[in-house]
Amino acid sequence: MISDTGILIDGISLSYNGRSVLNNICMEFEKGRVITLLGPNGCGKTTLLKIINGLLPPTSGRVYVDCRDTRSMGPREIAKLMGHVPQAQRSTFPFTVLDVVLTGRFSYISPLSKPGKRDLEKAYRALEMVGALHIADRPYNQVSGGERQLAMIARALAQEPSFLLLDEPTSYLDFRNQIRILKTVRRFAESGLMTVVMSLHDPNHALMFSDKIVLMRKIGDGLSEMKNIIAMGAPEDVMTSENIRAAYGIDVEMLEVKGRRLLLPK
Ligand SMILES: Nc1ncnc2c1ncn2[C@@H]1O[C@H](COP(=O)(O)OP(=O)(O)O)[C@@H](O)[C@H]1O
Ligand SMILES: [Mg+2]
Repeated sequence: MISDTGILIDGISLSYNGRSVLNNICMEFEKGRVITLLGPNGCGKTTLLKIINGLLPPTSGRVYVDCRDTRSMGPREIAKLMGHVPQAQRSTFPFTVLDVVLTGRFSYISPLSKPGKRDLEKAYRALEMVGALHIADRPYNQVSGGERQLAMIARALAQEPSFLLLDEPTSYLDFRNQIRILKTVRRFAESGLMTVVMSLHDPNHALMFSDKIVLMRKIGDGLSEMKNIIAMGAPEDVMTSENIRAAYGIDVEMLEVKGRRLLLPK
C-alpha cells in the first residue's frame, strides 16, 4: 500500500451460489477523496460496498481500512470507522426520523445508556447538513422515499465516520437534494474529514463530483468477460465514449462545457 491510510481492496472475489460476481478486484482508495463506482445494474456495486463494510464475507481476498484487516474488527469498531448507507429500503417501525439518525451514534453510546446531549446535537447537526431538519419529529415510516434517503445519509454523518459508503445516495432525491448531497460529501472529503465511496447511476454526476471513478461491467453467467473493471482513475481518463460503450453498450458524445466534460447520449 502506498499510503498508510485509506482503503485497500486486495484480490476480492465473490460468488453467489457458484456464480461469479466479483473476480479478483484490486484497488486503493486514498484518504480524503470521493470515489464513484459506476456501472450497469447487477455489475456488483452493492456487493462490493457490502464487502468493504464487512457485511458480506468475500469468497476470497481481503479489505484493509487504515491498514487494518476488516475481518479483525467488530461491528462497533467498523461503525466508528465506516458509515454505510444502503440502497433505499422501507421501514415499518414507527420511529421518528430523529430516532433513526440517533441510531448512527450507537458506537459512541454505552449499551445500557441513552443518547446524551452531545449525541442529540450531532444528530440535529447531521439533519441540518442534509436539509432535513424539518422532518426530525415525523415518523420515519411516513416520510417520502427521498426523505428517508436523506435521513439515512444524516444517520451516517451523525456517526462521524472516516469513511462513508453510499449506495446510490441520489436515487430517490429531487434535483436540489441530489446536488445538496453530492456537494456535502465533496465538502467533507475536501476538508480531509472523510473518504467517500459511492455508487451512482448518473455519469455526469460522477464526472462532476468524483476524484476517482471505477467503471465496472457485469461478469459471469456465461459471459466470457471475467474482468469487472473497465477503467479506473481520474474522471476524464475513465469517462471516454469507448469505455461507456464497453460498460453500457450505448453510444455517447463527449462535450466540453466551461472547461468541464459532460456526456450526452447519442
Ligand atoms: N443475495 C444474493 N444472492 C444471489 N445473487 C445475488 C445476491 N445479491 C446480489 N446478487 C446478484 O449479484 C449481482 C450483483 O448484484 P449487486 O451487487 O446488487 O449489483 P449492483 O449493485 O451493481 O446493481 C447481480 O446479478 C445480483 O442478481
Ligand atoms: Mg446496487
